[in-house]
Amino acid sequence: MVSEKNSAASLEPVYRFKHLLGIEGLMRTDIEKLLDLSDRYVESNRLADKKHSTLRGRTLINLFFENSTRTSTSFELAGKRLGGDVINMSVGTSSIKKGETLIDTAMTLNAMHPDVLVVRHADSGSVHLLAEKVNCSVINAGDGSHEHPTQALLDALAIRRRINRKLDGLRVVICGDIAHSRVARSNILLLGKMGATVRVVGPPTLLPVGLEQFGVEVFHDMESGLKDADIIMMLRLQTERMTGNFVPSIREYYQLYGLDYNKLKFAKPNALIMHPGPMNRGVEIDSELADDIDRSLIREQVEMGVAVRMACLEALVSQQMISTKDH
Ligand code: CP
Repeated sequence: MVSEKNSAASLEPVYRFKHLLGIEGLMRTDIEKLLDLSDRYVESNRLADKKHSTLRGRTLINLFFENSTRTSTSFELAGKRLGGDVINMSVGTSSIKKGETLIDTAMTLNAMHPDVLVVRHADSGSVHLLAEKVNCSVINAGDGSHEHPTQALLDALAIRRRINRKLDGLRVVICGDIAHSRVARSNILLLGKMGATVRVVGPPTLLPVGLEQFGVEVFHDMESGLKDADIIMMLRLQTERMTGNFVPSIREYYQLYGLDYNKLKFAKPNALIMHPGPMNRGVEIDSELADDIDRSLIREQVEMGVAVRMACLEALVSQQMISTKDH
């Protein structure tokens, strides 16, 4: 446990499942327990000695088939701060380049008895498929445009800590390329479960049809979409998942949907802005606004990422200990 340095993992059931594949399937209480544990790791990460032994003897393998800065680094830090052995598999120099499939790669790694696999892959659903083939726990670090559960958890933690209360009744507006965004999907699911109202704003080409069935309000212009917003989450154009042109030009996109101080006036006076990163300054967000510490939670989002991933690793390893005891 975070409060008991150098002790074994807690047997308290923080988490009920073997894997963390998405926000879908979690209940509000599951999310709250993970956020409460994360809170404790935020404090621990601000100390000079950040080391725990929760994962001592355990092996974490990071398997990223897509680029990452924040998620891969924070999972590595999280695993090391918990005292685990962390392997970052270099996909570019692996046997995947010789034609080995995702599943064969996963089963090869599985034979080495890791305890947790953290996987990012470009195909939606691929991490679920992989989780069915291995014995260890699997964390989805982003699968295509499907889910990015630890991002939604860290976003919720950043909001909760800044406003110093739960998320019930908040109006959260997610703007930009919703269609290709796993961050949007995980956040829509999580925020709904936590009692927030969710709106999306973007051009019709970047909004998937049928979003209303998730209880989301849909807008196509920033003025009406940002009205009464407490939190504004900006998303980048995910060109790596686009085939063809989804916006007429970057200049026009910024004029219509880029968040700057003028458009921020449409929201509540103290509205906060967020961005999961990586940011494209001057495309979806004004550079000065992104760095405005009174309005922007972007730096906190990165800090919360390490704490949330430590909490998720502890939760999964604790769950492994409980299920081993039960059988
Ligand atoms: N937000 C996020 O997933 O960032 P990375 O792609 O850098 O991991």
